[in-house]
Amino acid sequence: MLPAAGSGRRMGAGENKLFLRLGGEAILVRTLRVFDEDPDCRGIILAVRPDERERIRKMIEESGITKVSAMPDGGGERQDSVRACVRAFIGSGGSGDAVVMVHDAARPFISRTVIGELASVAAEHGAAIAAVRSKDTVKRVRDGLVESTPDRNSLWLVQTPQAFRAALLAEAEERAEADGFLGTDESMLVERLGYPVRIVESTYDNVKMTTKEDLAIGEVLLKRLEEEHE
Ligand code: CTP
Ligand code: MG
Repeated sequence: MLPAAGSGRRMGAGENKLFLRLGGEAILVRTLRVFDEDPDCRGIILAVRPDERERIRKMIEESGITKVSAMPDGGGERQDSVRACVRAFIGSGGSGDAVVMVHDAARPFISRTVIGELASVAAEHGAAIAAVRSKDTVKRVRDGLVESTPDRNSLWLVQTPQAFRAALLAEAEERAEADGFLGTDESMLVERLGYPVRIVESTYDNVKMTTKEDLAIGEVLLKRLEEEHE
């Protein structure tokens, strides 16, 4: 499930940042391709803005992506867009026992190895999320004053994909909606129901293309990947 219905306000490109190109190809197409080429991926559900649906449909066709099985309308918040994907999955007869993954369309550098690991941990334990260790010390701050310093060894910076047994994610999404709870990732919605969520160590290059600086980092990462394949 790829939420792609944002507006990319922080990127400041004047349009959805997912249309911006990295190494000549739209960010959205790069992310789609990772899953499209994954033999374990059975289908892709893409949440889109209604006014971008046609443009995205054409891009998918022209780039030879074949696994997009549904493109529900996204919503005002990322969580609304993800819920639309979950409903599309359940509504089309998707099994509650299947493992589903939510991945930001704005993270084109996700590694295949991490995806595989997430899938197997979620299949066994119900919920698994990609994360990296914090390289920096993190402070809890109030009104400009340091309150405390959490032990860095216990701090992980969380990314996507986040993988779940479908029935678990569906329950968490519906409960959050009913309770008016807005989280910043899917894991929070599952955590609040008391279910355990496992960490899968990811890579630092799985950056979310959020601001102009991230695009510059993206170009460097692409160059490195190309060199590795030479
Ligand atoms: N997203 C979505 N629906 C929304 C908001 C975000 O599907 N209402 C998607 C984005 O398209 C992106 C992912 O969620 O792939 C992560 O969100 P973010 O990086 O915040 O992207 P935007 O919301 O587009 O950017 P900004 O917050 O800077 O406006
Ligand atoms: Mg956003």
